[in-house]
Amino acid sequence: MYFVMLGAPGAGKGTQADLLSEELGFPHIASGDLFRQNLEKQTELGLLAKAYMQKGGLVPDEVTIKMILERIAAPDCDSGCLLDGFPRTLGQAEALDEAFAVQGRNVDRAIYIHVPSEVLVKRLGGRWICRKCQATYHIIASPPKVKGKCDRCGGELYQRADDVEETIRERLRVFFEQTSPIIDFYREQGKLVEVDGDKDIQEVTRDVLSALAEEK
Ligand code: AP5
Ligand code: MG
Ligand code: ZN
Repeated sequence: MYFVMLGAPGAGKGTQADLLSEELGFPHIASGDLFRQNLEKQTELGLLAKAYMQKGGLVPDEVTIKMILERIAAPDCDSGCLLDGFPRTLGQAEALDEAFAVQGRNVDRAIYIHVPSEVLVKRLGGRWICRKCQATYHIIASPPKVKGKCDRCGGELYQRADDVEETIRERLRVFFEQTSPIIDFYREQGKLVEVDGDKDIQEVTRDVLSALAEEK
């Protein structure tokens, strides 16, 4: 099964994809994480992406599509995966469908997590990420056991450079302008599963799983 996670910045795509990955047994592939890992390693791709990410804009389709298609061609995605942060433009959604069609695969479900804008801003302001394994924490909703340290791997926690007010506002604007049309793209294909993301983390996971079970 191939899943696409949709939602505004801070909706909980990464948090839910991590939990669903454990529950369903498919790898969690996040375009933003791949760009950040490249940036940590100072690769050409990472440095190119940085210029866009810093401003809250989108990395060009050409580069992003190539990166994701290469990643999902790896054997761990042979029976499925959870895509988080991709596709983000209609061009990316169409490119994914085209690549999948050649391989006899298709996007099975697009899970859209919706959350009110004022909640998104609070979530992003309190988010901390593990530098090593990308696990996500929130100072109030899901704090680490030891301050500044990852529960999972002991790695150092940091705040993303794009989690500052001005950039958060730009990311939200870009989401509504460029990414929200994809919601209708999947709705028209009968693939959209909508979930209220303004609940406890575990409750949202339960709602996603029961919505997926109902759709079967
Ligand atoms: P990306 O990394 O994808 O960022 P984003 O879309 O802005 O989304 P976030 O990761 O900020 O939010 P999330 O929905 O994953 O929320 P999370 O689970 O962390 O992209 C970053 C940049 O990379 C883009 O701006 C762009 O430049 C570039 N990029 C990436 N993909 C691209 C693409 N396809 N095309 C072009 N450019 C691309 O949760 C947020 C916080 O809330 C956490 O602290 C979490 O603990 C907390 N939380 C989560 N759920 C709950 C809950 N239910 N209740 C309370 N708190 C919660
Ligand atoms: Mg994320
Ligand atoms: Zn970690």
